[in-house]
Amino acid sequence: MIAPTRTSAEPSARASEAGTSGGFGVVLRGIRKQFRAAVAVDDLDLDVRPGEFLTLLGPSGCGKTTTLNMIAGFLTPDRGRILLDGQDVSRQPPDRRDTAMVFQQYALFPHLTVGQNVGYGLRMRRRRPEEIRTLVADALQRVGLAGREGDAPGQLSGGQQQRVALARAIVVRPKVLLFDEPLSNLDLKLREQLRLEIKHLQRELGITSVFVTHDQTEALVMSDRIAVMRAGRIEQLGAPEQIYHDPVNSFVAGFVGQSNLVTGTCTGAGPEPTECTVRLPGAAHPVRARVVGAGPPEPGASVQLLLRPEALRLVGPTDPPAPAGVTLDGRVTEVVNEGSVATVVVRVAESLRLRVAVPDPASRGIPAPGGEASVVIPSGIARALPS
Ligand SMILES: Nc1ncnc2c1ncn2[C@@H]1O[C@H](COP(=O)(O)OP(=O)(O)OP(=O)(O)O)[C@@H](O)[C@H]1O
Ligand SMILES: [Mg+2]
Repeated sequence: MIAPTRTSAEPSARASEAGTSGGFGVVLRGIRKQFRAAVAVDDLDLDVRPGEFLTLLGPSGCGKTTTLNMIAGFLTPDRGRILLDGQDVSRQPPDRRDTAMVFQQYALFPHLTVGQNVGYGLRMRRRRPEEIRTLVADALQRVGLAGREGDAPGQLSGGQQQRVALARAIVVRPKVLLFDEPLSNLDLKLREQLRLEIKHLQRELGITSVFVTHDQTEALVMSDRIAVMRAGRIEQLGAPEQIYHDPVNSFVAGFVGQSNLVTGTCTGAGPEPTECTVRLPGAAHPVRARVVGAGPPEPGASVQLLLRPEALRLVGPTDPPAPAGVTLDGRVTEVVNEGSVATVVVRVAESLRLRVAVPDPASRGIPAPGGEASVVIPSGIARALPS
């Protein structure tokens, strides 16, 4: 079913939407793309809101680049429609779509200067030379490369080259900015810095952006919404908090963030309408869990519980009282100390090991492997996922 979309016959609605949000929407309806035997994108529906920063997140080969390339017009879908700012652009060539892409490999023209690279799209659009000079200077200043017009791309570091590519993309003020893993070639420090800079720039300019990554942290930090993809389809679309705290299935839970996915037995529905109670091996009391996705499981049914390591609490004899919840006693089997946080694995029962993230481990005693420890599952943190 195709949801109503704005058309070019409604310029006022479009203008006001673009005006209030400073951006243009992208709509994908029933998009499919097959390469020989491989179905890269399968019946995909997606609405990118005007001005939004939306990330396509998923493992290698799930169809992220193919989706992006269809929005840009580098690939034509076998089926389905793509609407940009309410207009069907499915059969339009890339240069008629008003999108700009930033690639992982920068893709700068090596024989042109930085200024000529950034000004390229403006020259194609036959803008006046003095206007081009002003706009190029503005774009370079926005990416922290003011005055570098005369440099050759080869003289620049990877991070600087990517800044030039970013300037080249924003200088034409496209309707949509497309990013295909633009930070993957950079080291961690630079990647963390550029995440924030890109996000800041996108906010400032209000350009609708579709960002592709397989890095969950990048997605969580940068996005207004995240579409988690698997095998050419969207498994879940939602705000970062929603994806993180209420994943609809174990694939999304496992892909985004660290997780304990443990199996228990449903002891009943309730007490709240969206809850059920689950007995875990080695636990004296059942755990209350919020049911995600389908309705509550039947009593006696096997249930997968999601317990995030940082939501669990490790309690030793000298620790302050733990929050209300269900306590499980066990023995530490492993401690991985990363300085600001330690991951402690506690064996509660033969079939139940829990990873607990302990912040600031230096300031508290963590039992060594073999030592006794209790894990508290605080009320409200458990999620029951469809098995
Ligand atoms: N030009 C092509 N010819 C044949 N198969 C292709 C082509 N492009 C993509 N595919 C296949 O389509 C599927 C999706 O590829 P795509 O490049 O969109 O994945 P991706 O999510 O971007 O992965 P990555 O994270 O590795 O970049 C893969 O199975 C891939 O092998
Ligand atoms: Mg890709």
